[in-house]
Order: sequence, then structure tokens, then C-alpha cells
Amino acid sequence: MLRSKIAGIGYYVPERVVTNDDLAKVMDTSDKWIQERTGIKERRHGVRFEETTSTMGTKAARIAIERAGIEPKDVDFIVFATLSPDYYFPGSGVLLQRQLGIPGIGALDVRNQCSGFIYALSVADQFVKTGMYKNVLVVGAELHSFGLDYSTKGRNVTAIFGDGAGAVVLQAAAEGEDKGILSTHLHADGNHAEQLAMINFGSHSGVHLGKERFGFNEDAQYGELMMSDKMWEEKDIYPEMNGQYVFKYAVTKFPEVIMEALKANGRELSDLDMLIPHQANLRISQFVQKRLRLRDDQVFNNIQKYGNTTAASIPIALCEAYEKGKVKEGDLVCLAAFGSGFTWGSALIKW
Ligand code: UT7
Repeated sequence: MLRSKIAGIGYYVPERVVTNDDLAKVMDTSDKWIQERTGIKERRHGVRFEETTSTMGTKAARIAIERAGIEPKDVDFIVFATLSPDYYFPGSGVLLQRQLGIPGIGALDVRNQCSGFIYALSVADQFVKTGMYKNVLVVGAELHSFGLDYSTKGRNVTAIFGDGAGAVVLQAAAEGEDKGILSTHLHADGNHAEQLAMINFGSHSGVHLGKERFGFNEDAQYGELMMSDKMWEEKDIYPEMNGQYVFKYAVTKFPEVIMEALKANGRELSDLDMLIPHQANLRISQFVQKRLRLRDDQVFNNIQKYGNTTAASIPIALCEAYEKGKVKEGDLVCLAAFGSGFTWGSALIKW
């Protein structure tokens, strides 16, 4: 069986910086609260009416492709992870494919939120390992800023989310080349699905909200049930999170899935050169670091600058760590994520 390696990596974040003070102008929040509870100082928001999830993903992908020493036409398959696609359907993978000018190859969208990149990487890894595809482009991109609640009601989510994109090209490692993805582990528990979710406007809106809010009315038009004035008025159209509930699970599942990766490969925490945790909240990363007794130089965080970019956070952080020389040839790197679903997972990589 072949082993897949990251042959090229890139990231892109929009130029527009939104500070905590900027948010405090439109909602009841403060720089102090956001920094103390999340570590976030600022985040990026896409250029309004110009950037989308796929355009950002394309920018990151072009860098990854160039660094892999290939051209877009050499890409055999695309896996695109996002929770904020350009359209309800089709997915952003086909839009990215169009922007790269490579029609015909397969494009798959992965909807696993904060764990999306790990899931996407794992899917791509299987294709490369089995020899089905040579160059698989894996993208994680999010444009949250267009769909957040900027009133005080949405402050717990809006304060943490940011926009950005990251991408890698996966290729088969050469025979005898001691590098690449050693393992991936994926998990989910749908019992917690609504604890961090954007429920509307899925088909659920027609069934549940229709009954609850409008009474069961055989004559009701589905359109009315799915999008009502009441839902707009009550701001029932944005992502919502039970923050403490999610936090509690996150700090348990992160260490579990990191240890699972190490154990499966006969490695110890002391062998780990770098942990790149999904950038959910700096307090979560610090909690995990403390629990696992990792040194500061074994964990990379950049949530301070970009906020939580869900599926994009791991490839952005990995790319930044690589560019800063904090991830080097031969290093043992663990990627780990937890988020909405709940979903969680890890990837252990020899860089
Ligand atoms: O990325 C995928 C997974 N996501 C996560 O892992 C996120 C996990 N959760 C968190 O990061 C934290 O729970 C949050 C940052 C979202 C919230 O922090 P918290 O310390 O858990 O706050 P809380 O939700 O318990 O709220 C405490 C208070 C509330 O006010 P009251 O009800 O006590 O008056 C909130 O309304 O803080 C309030 N609050 C805010 N205040 C100022 C919530 N968000 C804000 C805000 N600014 N932005």
C-alpha cells in the first residue's frame, strides 16, 4: 500500500481585519471579554460582495499546487470541506474546480464543520493510498462573515468566527520515502447535533418549526414554513451554539483523539514535534496542552489573529507553522479537531 504525503500547502486570508473593538461598535461585547474567554484579538472578514468561500479556497489551492510543483491540470480529484458553501447546492468543490479551469475531474464536498479538514484529508488519503488518484487537492475554506448574527443575541458565535482558506496537495510518497500521513481517526456522535448548529433553512424547518410555530396546517405552503417573517424577526436563521456544553466535550475529545493517533502508531507524547489543534478557542488549546503536559513549542496556535475559521483553521495553522519553520522535515505532526455534529478526529503525519 502506498503512503500519501503533503506535497504542497497554502493558505489565504482576506485583507479586511475586524478587531474586537469593531464588533463592540455593533453588539454588546468588549475586547476584554473576547480576549479573556477566547484569546481572539482580531479576525478577517472577506471583501464584501466580492469574495466567496470558493474564491478564497481557490487562492489557497493555487499556492498549494505551485508548492507541490504541479499545475492545476495535474490535479486528479478535489475534496472541499466547508460549512459555509457559496450555494445551498451545488457544493463549493465544483465552483473551485471551475475557477481552477480543470473540468471533468471529480469534486466532493465534505460537511463536517470544524472537523471538515481532517475528514477531507482522510478521504483523500484513502484515494492516494490505494493508487486511485495521484494528486488530490484538499481544501478547507469558510466565509462566515456574511451569515452571522451581528446583534447581541449572536455575540458568542460572531465573536469567535472568522473567514479564511487553506489547502494541501496530497501525493503518493516515493518508495522508501519516510514521510506522509501515518494514520487518520474519525469520530462522530449525532446525539449532540443541535448543540452547535445552523438549523434553518434545512428540511427540518418545514417539519418541526412548521408544527411548532404555525400549527399543523395541511394547507400551509412549504415555502411559508421554511422561511417565515417570524424566523427573521427572532433571528432564528443564524448558527447557534451552546458554548459551555461544546467546550466541555471539546476538552475531553481532543486529548482522546490525539492519544488514539499516537497509540495507533506506537508513539508517545514526547515524540510529538507539533500539535496543530483546530483553532476553536485559545482556552481549549491551552487546556489540552496542559492536560497532555506538552511544552509551548509543541503546540501551534494562531486563533489570536484569525479567530475560529472552522474547516479552514487547521490548514491555515499548519501552513503558517510550516512557513515560520516550526514544522520541519522529519517532524511528527498531529492535527486534531472537534466541532459541530459532534464530530472529531486526528491525523498523524511525518512531515
Ligand atoms: O469550533 C468548533 C467548536 N466550538 C467550540 O469549541 C467553542 C466552545 N465554546 C467556547 O469557546 C465558549 O463557550 C464561548 C467563547 C463560545 C463562550 O464563552 P463562555 O465563557 O463559555 O461563555 P458563556 O457562553 O458561558 O456565557 C457567559 C456570559 C453570558 O452572559 P450571561 O448570560 O452570564 O449574562 C453570555 O451572554 O457571557 C456572555 N457572552 C458574551 N459577553 C460579551 C457570550 N458571548 C459574549 C461576547 N461578549 N462575545
